[in-house]
Amino acid sequence: ALMEKGNYRHFMEKEIHDQPEACQHTLSAYVDPVTDHTHTPGGVDFAKVDRLQIVACGTAGYAGQIGRYLFERLAKLPTDVEAASEFRYREPAVTPGTLGVAISQSGETADTLAALRWCKAQGLKTAAVVNVHESTMAREADVLWPTHAGPEIGVASTKAFTSQVSALTALAISAAVARGCIDAAEERRLTKILMEAPRLIADSIQVEEAVRALAPELAAARDVLYFGRGAMFPLALEAALKLKEISYIHAEGYAAGELKHGPIALIDQGTPVIVIAPTDHLFEKTISNMSEVAARGGKIILITDEAGARNAPKGARTIVAPTADPLIAPLVFAAPIQLLAYHVAVQKGADVDQPRNLAKSVTVE
Ligand code: G6P
Repeated sequence: ALMEKGNYRHFMEKEIHDQPEACQHTLSAYVDPVTDHTHTPGGVDFAKVDRLQIVACGTAGYAGQIGRYLFERLAKLPTDVEAASEFRYREPAVTPGTLGVAISQSGETADTLAALRWCKAQGLKTAAVVNVHESTMAREADVLWPTHAGPEIGVASTKAFTSQVSALTALAISAAVARGCIDAAEERRLTKILMEAPRLIADSIQVEEAVRALAPELAAARDVLYFGRGAMFPLALEAALKLKEISYIHAEGYAAGELKHGPIALIDQGTPVIVIAPTDHLFEKTISNMSEVAARGGKIILITDEAGARNAPKGARTIVAPTADPLIAPLVFAAPIQLLAYHVAVQKGADVDQPRNLAKSVTVE
């Protein structure tokens, strides 16, 4: 079927707005809405898994990095995440109880597919978090962990990313139960929080006007820095990738704690610094990093929630996203960073859906 943009100017904008539905559909494959139990499609017994080895490219890799925070924190399951292009050639030392997990929207990315095949050749059990269910990875992995984002047309991935994070969050809860890390009551509590994500993503899209207002200023920047801590660190990496991909502005994402170890040297009068910091146990630390940025003339844009906005350092502009439990903060804070990249690119007159030199699916090395 011919895909329609509806009232949107670009597929990317439509796909950003599709995210509540994509997240909802994806979660329905993992969560029973009546009992609030999570289940693991394909019958993987996480109690028998010693380690996850996630392999992916690009945005899917950042979804995997967010997944790592969840699998380790909730399920005490050691998790490695690596760019598939590196993993496939470096002769990694994997142990027999490792589950190889490929993450891919298309299910056809050459390096991810090769990494998946390498895992299988080592005798590992494999799973694939894939959006195209008829793809090569979906066929070749032992287990399919589907995302239900629907077709994604924009080259820069948006709804596939949040669908991957949704699936991984549900799987981490399921793994936590299987591994005896949480009881049934805690499972229900976490699942209820996760099921709020579609609504909160819809709310977070409401920042669009605030983000659009900042676009002209950011479009004039040569470099943009993004900072985050915890699961907001991989989201900062994804935010920088999105901006690079479609607006061609140089952008870097950093763990906020690394500020003093290099990136602070880049900050001078007027460097835009975008800080992704919901109110959580790391918020105070991130704020103190921000004060150092402000003291050096960096222009801070703080993406936070209401409580965070009240505690923002002087001079920082804020984009206020909905208040969300840390479990789903990566989902809720994704739309603001995507919309920021989108509106900066539109401001620059860039071809948002077909950025120069990039392909939707990279099927050759
Ligand atoms: C390309 C796309 C990215 C995507 C990456 C991985 O680089 O432009 O948006 O994240 O491939 O694609 P996959 O289909 O494996 O998720």
